[in-house]
Amino acid sequence: MNYFELIAWLGVGSSHPGGFPATKQNLEAMEIKPGEYVLDAGCGSGLTACHIAKTIGCKIIGIDISPLMVEKARKRAEREGVSHLVKFEVADVYRLPFEDNLFDLVMAESITVFLDKVKVYREFCRVLKPEGRVADLEMALLKELPPHLKTQMETCFGSGTNPLPFEEWLKTLTEAGFEDVTAKNPQPMRNNGNLLLGELKKDWLLIKDLPQKIRYQPGLVNRLQRNANFMKYNRSFFGFGLFLGRKPKPTPLPPKTFSYWLRKTFLGYYSSLKELRKYLGY
Ligand SMILES: C[S@@+](CC[C@H](N)C(=O)[O-])C[C@H]1O[C@@H](n2cnc3c(N)ncnc32)[C@H](O)[C@@H]1O
Repeated sequence: MNYFELIAWLGVGSSHPGGFPATKQNLEAMEIKPGEYVLDAGCGSGLTACHIAKTIGCKIIGIDISPLMVEKARKRAEREGVSHLVKFEVADVYRLPFEDNLFDLVMAESITVFLDKVKVYREFCRVLKPEGRVADLEMALLKELPPHLKTQMETCFGSGTNPLPFEEWLKTLTEAGFEDVTAKNPQPMRNNGNLLLGELKKDWLLIKDLPQKIRYQPGLVNRLQRNANFMKYNRSFFGFGLFLGRKPKPTPLPPKTFSYWLRKTFLGYYSSLKELRKYLGY
């Protein structure tokens, strides 16, 4: 079972740095309004998307590549009475099944850190309306990670896991075409395992058949412990923050001045004259 399969099987609702408290802290910076259309890319079991639907009342689509996550997210939406506002679909962030210029906000929590960041951000940019916002909560690197810790990190979270320093995250957003890029709520990784555990325990979707799952796969507890320990003992290397950007307005067409009209008319006339001469053969 890889890391994504593990959290999907468990149905973890907030598998991102800072957990659900960080999500609640970031909501203010995202400035979501009730009339907006939001995409939660890599939504997991839908905890954040359902919370946004419930507290803000906007329409939101959550997508995830894992059918198991999407199934759990749909159950959550039904149970929490927000199915009329939030929909969940299986989809890949590299090829979003949406038309261009559709969403007011694309948000993500701990997904681009595992993927090709520029490609994913370009896809987010494509589906955003002009001046639409991107808001991505991701892990950041505070100092260089020694090779043996990089190997351990990839063993825990999968090969390709690549947190960037804060300024690199912003450069990546710029490279993908966003402007007004900024980081909000940057913070170091804290030793607040008990607080996060307390939040996880409140999530009925995770808790409901956890004892049976642990009985069925006892190795799972060791696996989770290993991941938690990696973060606990190496947290001085890591931080996290919310990376924000805005899709630029389209560049306006040149104004139709008198000289533009003259050029257009006479060039048109000139080419028709050339056509006529060719036709008449002189
Ligand atoms: C660490 S989890 C975070 C889930 C959720 N955002 C949260 O904070 O709890 C990463 C999620 O990204 C999903 N994912 C990974 N690659 C993906 C891709 N290419 N397209 C869509 N989702 C993907 C995984 O299935 C997983 O649910």
